[in-house]
Amino acid sequence: MKTMWNIEWFQIVLLTFIALFAGNQAEDETSLVLTDILPKDTKTYDKNRPPKYSGQPTVVYFHVTVLSIDTINEESMTYVADIFLAQSWRDHRLRLPENMTSEYRILDVGWLQDIWRPDVFFKNAKQVTFHEMSVPNHYLWLYHDKTLIYMAKLTLVLSCAMKFESYPHDTQICSMQIESLSHTTFDLVFKWNLTDPLVTNPDIELPQLDIAKNFTEDCTLEYSTGNFTCLAVVFNLRRRLGYHLFHTYIPSGLIVVMSWISFWIKPEAIPARVTLGVTSLLTLATQSTQSQRSLPPVSYVKAIDVWMSSCTLFVFMSLMQFAVCNHFMGTGTPAKPKVLSDEELHSAGLDSPGHTNGLLRFRAKSPNPAERRTTPKYVTSCYGREVALFIDKWSRFAFPFAYLIFNIFYWTTYLEDVNVINL
Ligand SMILES: *[C@@H]1O[C@H](CO)[C@@H](O)[C@H](O)[C@H]1NC(C)=O
Ligand SMILES: *[C@@H]1O[C@H](CO)[C@@H](O)[C@H](O)[C@H]1NC(C)=O
Ligand SMILES: *[C@@H]1O[C@H](CO)[C@@H](O)[C@H](O)[C@H]1NC(C)=O
Ligand SMILES: *[C@@H]1O[C@H](CO)[C@@H](O)[C@H](O)[C@H]1NC(C)=O
Repeated sequence: MKTMWNIEWFQIVLLTFIALFAGNQAEDETSLVLTDILPKDTKTYDKNRPPKYSGQPTVVYFHVTVLSIDTINEESMTYVADIFLAQSWRDHRLRLPENMTSEYRILDVGWLQDIWRPDVFFKNAKQVTFHEMSVPNHYLWLYHDKTLIYMAKLTLVLSCAMKFESYPHDTQICSMQIESLSHTTFDLVFKWNLTDPLVTNPDIELPQLDIAKNFTEDCTLEYSTGNFTCLAVVFNLRRRLGYHLFHTYIPSGLIVVMSWISFWIKPEAIPARVTLGVTSLLTLATQSTQSQRSLPPVSYVKAIDVWMSSCTLFVFMSLMQFAVCNHFMGTGTPAKPKVLSDEELHSAGLDSPGHTNGLLRFRAKSPNPAERRTTPKYVTSCYGREVALFIDKWSRFAFPFAYLIFNIFYWTTYLEDVNVINL
């Protein structure tokens, strides 16, 4: 209770102070017109010439506050940033308004048309939106030392050359480049504010990516016409694995495991094993397209491609394994070859010469019910079935082992990438 009272008291004192202070200022300051700050002889002021002081290039200090980053679009390789851009420069040619007592004066932003201002443009912006609600979102301050600060809120659609080689373990490096349009470094130099060049809102929440790093750099470039000053804000956006773990890796891994069930089903169950293999293949194909729905159709191999094609290969191999088993089941020399006579085939309606292979012969129903009972389902040798069973048994270990090796390779290769960038 006591602290509350104290705070209230403090506020009252503070407000009174502010009111008194503001009242004093209001008495002293009159409204300004442009000619109050321009030199007396306006002819001497060239608004297209940077205010070079003793031959040195004009220095413009920048500060960027990133309010939000969103709409990261992999397909168009763009992202959207909301920023406050502050530029401050000294124009010694200006005059201070008379009787200026406050720390700074707010100037009419329209005057920027008539005084020199840095010709800033966003090099990698596709679209810049200036906010007009509820008033145009920019202001201009003039300090006692003739420093001008111009602040504006902007929404930028920025392009970012994304690389998907290690998608979804990728880290995208996206920047925002601020360059001078017409002045070379001889006349104009951009610098980051020495104390706090960049503030990034810590509450920025992106659906799939994390801001791993945010920093500023100088990107001054040499063109044929000269060196042009340039500053950049760089974000390292690292993809979180969560989404792809649950929507890609675990489901596709489970399907590969599911395809191994086939090795525990007895080789005679052809429909069961074929259905299992084919269903697994189709499901994987669907997942593969799902997993890269949001990506542009790039021509190089991505990590997700390596994973998905390997899973598909594993499932395909288990289907092929059955083909091999089936081959051994079906074509071994019968221990007691039972050749059906033509009459028997005829009675089964299978007398065409094209239908005389072992399998169909055996399938032709024997007219004698007793004989039918004793006939094995395959015309097969004990030896053939043994081989098939041996392949199955061997596969039960070989396939999981191979898949394990592949997983170790895959995860060490691609998770290493993330660690390198983490440092
Ligand atoms: C500045 O102050 C002086 C003296 O207080 C006064 O005479 C003059 O009119 C003021 N100028 C302006 C522009 O307010
Ligand atoms: C840098 O920004 C701070 C406030 O954030 C300001 O006080 C300071 O004057 C700026 N420095 C320069 C060189 O513009
Ligand atoms: C941006 O970088 C600074 C310094 O490296 C760090 O303190 C801050 O947490 C980063 N902000 C975000 C949103 O990552
Ligand atoms: C541009 O910069 C490069 C390297 O910083 C320098 O060698 C070159 O002389 C500069 N050119 C001009 C025209 O300033």
